[in-house]
Amino acid sequence: MAGALLGSDVPVQTIEPPMAPAPVVPRGDRPAGVEAMDWQTLRQAVADCTACKLCSGRRQTVFGVGHLRAHWMVVGEAPGEQEDIQGEPFVGKSGQLLDNMLRALGLSRRETPPPGGEGSAYDAARQVYIANTLKCRPPGNRNPEPDELAQCEPFLIRQIALVQPRIILAMGRFAVQSLLRSNEPVGRLRGRVHRYQGVPLIVTYHPAYLLRNPEDKARAWDDLCLAAETAAGLAGD
Ligand code: URA
Repeated sequence: MAGALLGSDVPVQTIEPPMAPAPVVPRGDRPAGVEAMDWQTLRQAVADCTACKLCSGRRQTVFGVGHLRAHWMVVGEAPGEQEDIQGEPFVGKSGQLLDNMLRALGLSRRETPPPGGEGSAYDAARQVYIANTLKCRPPGNRNPEPDELAQCEPFLIRQIALVQPRIILAMGRFAVQSLLRSNEPVGRLRGRVHRYQGVPLIVTYHPAYLLRNPEDKARAWDDLCLAAETAAGLAGD
């Protein structure tokens, strides 16, 4: 239109308004009493959380997914771009690998029973609850920072307490740091059974690492088999 008014040979320069500054999201605290919350209150507390700087860049929080009393719990690191868009953990490329690994063990992250399948097909022993150490995406998928991990940790602790898993898979170094309070590399901690509050915990590689280092997939498979054996041993208790 401007071009037509000015004549077609006159270049039209569009002047963009200056970029609006990033919205300032007030930093607050987590609501008190996370350690006693039920699922609904906990989910809402996560959605409303402004306790660290990650709240200003998120599209949404990524709470967790799966059977609320699953025997298996997977703990990953933090949402990536796809998770931030979809609001569910592990839905990007590393999530596809995770799902394939779980499927190979006969496990799934199904949240609700399949139609008409409340019985054996939807057995808590074959279900997984998946959560991350952080519920908000770090910008550009950078590593979680210590204050972010500290602020978010009570949410994960409460999720674990509510699920009461029989076995925990800690995937990658940030899950290990949170749950085992260890800075040892994953490669040194894998291959044996640790305990988190009495619950057996197996350390393994993060799926994103496995996508970059496929030569370690066989070791990750060994870890999953160790977890399955450990869970099966418990099943007989
Ligand atoms: N990596 C994670 O650790 N968690 C996700 O949800 C996605 C990628």
